[in-house]
Amino acid sequence: MSKQEEKISELIAKRAEARLGGGEKAIIKQHERGKYTARERIAMLLDEGSFEELDMFVTHRCTNFGMEKKHPLGDGVVTGFGTIEGRLVYVFAQDFTVLGGSLSETMAQKICKVMDLAMKMGAPCIGLNDSGGARIQEGINALGGYAEIFQRNILASGVIPQISAILGPCAGGAVYSPALTDFTIMTKGLSYMFLTGPTVVKTVTGEDVSQEQLGGASVHASKSGVTHFATESEEEALALIRKLISYIPQNNLEETPLVECKDPIDRLEDKLNDIIPDSPKRSYDMYDVIGAIVDNSEFLEVQRDYAKNIIIGFARMNGQSVGIVANQPKVLAGVLDSNASRKAARFVRFCDCFNIPLVTLVDVPGFLPGTGQEYNGVILHGAKLLYAYGEATVPKVTVTLRKSYGGSHIVMSCKQLRGDVNYAWPSSEIAVMGAEGAVGVLYAKEAKTHENPAQFKLEKEEEYRNLFANPYQAAKFGYIDDVIEPRNTRFRVIKALNMLATKKQTNPAKKHGNIPL
Ligand code: HXC
Repeated sequence: MSKQEEKISELIAKRAEARLGGGEKAIIKQHERGKYTARERIAMLLDEGSFEELDMFVTHRCTNFGMEKKHPLGDGVVTGFGTIEGRLVYVFAQDFTVLGGSLSETMAQKICKVMDLAMKMGAPCIGLNDSGGARIQEGINALGGYAEIFQRNILASGVIPQISAILGPCAGGAVYSPALTDFTIMTKGLSYMFLTGPTVVKTVTGEDVSQEQLGGASVHASKSGVTHFATESEEEALALIRKLISYIPQNNLEETPLVECKDPIDRLEDKLNDIIPDSPKRSYDMYDVIGAIVDNSEFLEVQRDYAKNIIIGFARMNGQSVGIVANQPKVLAGVLDSNASRKAARFVRFCDCFNIPLVTLVDVPGFLPGTGQEYNGVILHGAKLLYAYGEATVPKVTVTLRKSYGGSHIVMSCKQLRGDVNYAWPSSEIAVMGAEGAVGVLYAKEAKTHENPAQFKLEKEEEYRNLFANPYQAAKFGYIDDVIEPRNTRFRVIKALNMLATKKQTNPAKKHGNIPL
């Protein structure tokens, strides 16, 4: 064997060693847990053969607790770049087979390198997290490493899309970094997110709690709202990232990818003319409306199981990505509460960061009243949504389907919050409040002294409804641009979006605003 051949064999052997991560036994254990390895995940995520790995030979520099005896190549994270549907993305995937994917100083440096490249090139950065958090043996150096990552997450926010998959038990810094990114995806039964794991919880508070109860995918998808998606499998999670990427641009200066639209843009949906029930107290399913107006009825819903009274997600109209925000009359009558406001506000801001027009479908009776909400800070949370819509400069098209009362009318992308095109169906009721509430306030004294208070109230409610339970009061003042036939909604919204394609709007120069967090 020539010297050169020897060197090449050495390289091949080192590569093979690096590819084994924590070793064959650890890989078998990872598979037995029902999880894929970091490299298997990257292969599923990216276009076939597109992955170029960086820093395969990096090792840690720790000498505490016997660490000087183990130097796994790559140090527990696989990093590099590749493509999704031909578009450049950067990726890091933590390898749980190496010291539980825990983050060392050098692992942090590897991750920071791809984040810096992603920022320089203006391409999304995707993190596949499977990590027990800061590597305990490294102490402050591991913490410093996390801080370096967080700082980059923060500076990259709103510049390049950042997506995190949680594919194992993730603790400490391994959850804070995802929390700073735009979207988090968890796998049910396999992934967990918590600041500290059950063992530490037991030691500190004495509480006995399983990983699933503490931070399973279902908990974070429905209770905390920390995760945006919960999937049945890793395959589904990785496919979902590919799909998500298809709706968003490479960075904040680019437009979203335009997809050929085979669904007729002038498709009439007669069923929408009948979808609003005669009784204002009966509900209908907003998903039916969304499905009827978007291309091919395709809707990628975000945070499906959290604050179900509002629906958010991505769709296309005439091949153009749009962010849909819609009240759901089927859940709590579509009322806005703290969680719904926070959920929608963050989504509106994501769309605004990345030039994705907003289509808002309104049927909202108001904000949920009561101590539960007030103590929970609904004023601040509602203000977040108000702020997000008022700040957004992307094209904003709003369609009011039925109720649009009070503060919630204003919040849901009304004209004065710089709604560009605001349409209403003939069934709209745009007013300060509903008839019963209004009559209760306006005629409280008269009702008390009236010989037939019930009849009196009914009459006054009817009078109020005749005056306000329609879109024409708002249209009279130009607060609604047109009253449209429901079955024409798809066509009318697409025409509005086409008209708005060249929209240019800026906010006053400032360091940054002070959103009511
Ligand atoms: C070093 C770690 C580690 C860590 C796990 N390991 N976490 N090594 N530092 N943080 C090692 C284990 O010792 C074990 O090594 C291997 O990884 C697999 O871990 P297991 O415990 O066997 O796996 P499992 O039962 O699935 O439990 C996974 C886990 C648990 C829930 C993540 O390991 C755990 O609770 N780890 C500590 C989590 C934690 O509290 N992290 C917070 C760090 S503080 P062997 O050699 O036995 O295979 C932090 C602060 C950042 O991150 C700052 C935030 C703002």
